[in-house]
Amino acid sequence: MRVLVVGNGGREHAICWKINQSILVEKLFCIPGNAGIQEIAECVDFSIDDIQAITGFAKDNAIDLTIIGPEIPLVLGLADSLKKEGLKVFGPDKEAAKFEGSKAYSKDFMVKYNIPTAQYGVFTNTDNAIHALGRFDIPIVVKADGLAAGKGVLICESKVEAEEAIIEIMQKRQFGSAGDQIVIEEFLTGTEASLLCFVDGNNIIPMESARDYKKAYDGDKGLNTGGMGCFSPNPIYTDRLKAYIDNHIISNIRTGLKEENIDFRGVLFIGLMIENDQAKVLEFNVRFGDPETQVILPRLESDLVEIMMKVVEGKLQESDLVWSVKEAVAVVIASGGYPNNYEKGKIINGLDKIDDDIMLFHAGTILKDGKVVTNGGRVMAVACIEENVEKARNKIYNNIGNIIFDNMQYRTDIAKLSDD
Ligand SMILES: Nc1ncnc2c1ncn2[C@@H]1O[C@H](COP(=O)(O)OP(=O)(O)OP(=O)(O)O)[C@@H](O)[C@H]1O
Ligand SMILES: [Mg+2]
Repeated sequence: MRVLVVGNGGREHAICWKINQSILVEKLFCIPGNAGIQEIAECVDFSIDDIQAITGFAKDNAIDLTIIGPEIPLVLGLADSLKKEGLKVFGPDKEAAKFEGSKAYSKDFMVKYNIPTAQYGVFTNTDNAIHALGRFDIPIVVKADGLAAGKGVLICESKVEAEEAIIEIMQKRQFGSAGDQIVIEEFLTGTEASLLCFVDGNNIIPMESARDYKKAYDGDKGLNTGGMGCFSPNPIYTDRLKAYIDNHIISNIRTGLKEENIDFRGVLFIGLMIENDQAKVLEFNVRFGDPETQVILPRLESDLVEIMMKVVEGKLQESDLVWSVKEAVAVVIASGGYPNNYEKGKIINGLDKIDDDIMLFHAGTILKDGKVVTNGGRVMAVACIEENVEKARNKIYNNIGNIIFDNMQYRTDIAKLSDD
């Protein structure tokens, strides 16, 4: 098979790494890829939002399966465009991608199908939104409806702050048209967890659990980031919680998809808030998570391409997925200053000094004059799969110091369970 992956993050490197192990694959392409992906796939330099160019490439190169990593091309309808050309694609079409493209759409779906979630209101008018604040206790959560690169959610500690957030999003249009509508939401307490599921149009099959670390610094200090580390499995997933999620969330999503005639094929990412072995849905995303993918795929023993083809054909069964009992950890190395301003173009040294049982999943890297240099906020994830989380994390932290570039930063407490 000739396979194409779209995206350039650590998630896409992990997907390419796993696909590259499949005996079904004879040629792997990636658009646009990064310095790490370049070692295992032929990278082609189109922008991920250039639907026409990507579709043209897939057609001209007789691609048998395209896997769409990031949300932007999914929401823009890359899957629809590829399917129109008779091409196979892993990832939902534009209609189904609304689960990530519109928070209001997702919330309405959850309520309609009895999926537990926070109380909320949807507003298209600033005055109405401000007026409605009286109905909510503080803190109040204000969310831009559309895609805002993970920055469109504001947790407000007072009504004045919430009013400012509404004006910022709806009138000053901080996130552009993503703020045409907003969702105002009740604040939920508990522990967050994400559950990634393969969805084949009918079956919704959860992958192994993972826990990510969103804050920039040790001890969960600093700003929110795209994710600074992750490990799998997540000990919060007790059997009772699993049963609750199956009975109240997964089965209701399945009913909703059927009733609404939504043909979802790809990965549904369910963001959860957990308390007392019960869960409420915070949000849906319509693709693999980053960095969850970097710890989940190393634990998948089945052939990923075979699984993805079954998803595309609507023939996925629970039994198709075989998971390793081993545990995995990933620690993200970022550019100094991230998630605020940071410099690019720093030469990365020491990549050849890493032990063989360590996996390096590149994110913001690029090859320049034969050298790997930084090209983004999150630069790469250092990952390992071992008998248990403890062993994996020790191996990672024994190796990570060999990687050196100016101003690098990483958390030293990823998967450190004893302090929890
Ligand atoms: N109702 C809520 N109560 C408490 N915290 C919340 C609530 N809604 C969102 N959050 C916090 O804000 C974060 C981002 O919210 P959400 O997942 O809806 O936005 P997002 O920008 O789409 O995120 P992502 O980039 O992960 O897709 C959540 O991970 C959670 O920490
Ligand atoms: Mg989201």
